[in-house]
Amino acid sequence: MTTDKIQALLTRRSVVARDLCEPGPNQNELDTILKCAHRVPDHGKIGPWRFIIFQGEARLAFGQELEKIFAEENPDATDKALEFENERFIRAPIVVGVIYSPQEHPKVPEWEQQLSTGAVCQNILNAAHFLGYSAQWLTEWYAFNDRVNNVLGLQAQEQVAGFIYIGSTKEKPSERNRPDLTERILHWQP
Ligand SMILES: Cc1cc2nc3c(=O)[nH]c(=O)nc-3n(C[C@H](O)[C@H](O)[C@H](O)COP(=O)(O)O)c2cc1C
Repeated sequence: MTTDKIQALLTRRSVVARDLCEPGPNQNELDTILKCAHRVPDHGKIGPWRFIIFQGEARLAFGQELEKIFAEENPDATDKALEFENERFIRAPIVVGVIYSPQEHPKVPEWEQQLSTGAVCQNILNAAHFLGYSAQWLTEWYAFNDRVNNVLGLQAQEQVAGFIYIGSTKEKPSERNRPDLTERILHWQP
């Protein structure tokens, strides 16, 4: 027998950003999603993450920055490709940028701080799903670009963990192929 909570976890699927539409979470719901995101296991209580929210007109303004950088780095880009960059962030009503912000710690290696930040991203996906929204965790080229990091005000040690696009969807996504779970399980014996 599965509980509703387990069923919700078992049925969560990402929805590609271009298929997300209005409405997105309202302010209360967004606050709830971020509270859930912030509540992850965190060795050393470091909290090595922060959030950048893209909403409303700011999404297009950021798209203009992406288009400018993309055009300069790809002089042969077509008008269509540039338009796509311009409109990237209006694919969803809300995009949450999760910024990995590690700190030096005598006992907690960076790897563990990365794991916590991954859990933050997953909690956003789950919280959005539980509230009835769909989402997709993307990085794409602009999560790995120094000039974009500069526009976002990232410090040298910081890195984008993901841009989580959140919105509604008209069609329920179908299940995708997944690795065979049984092949991934080993019952350890001496
Ligand atoms: C860190 C990370 C970055 C990702 N970046 C991309 C990406 O740039 N483009 C993409 O198509 N999918 C990307 N994905 C995959 C999707 O978020 C998602 O896993 C996939 O669409 C199906 O997942 P589902 O099992 O949640 O439905 C990324 C996933 C992770 C964990």
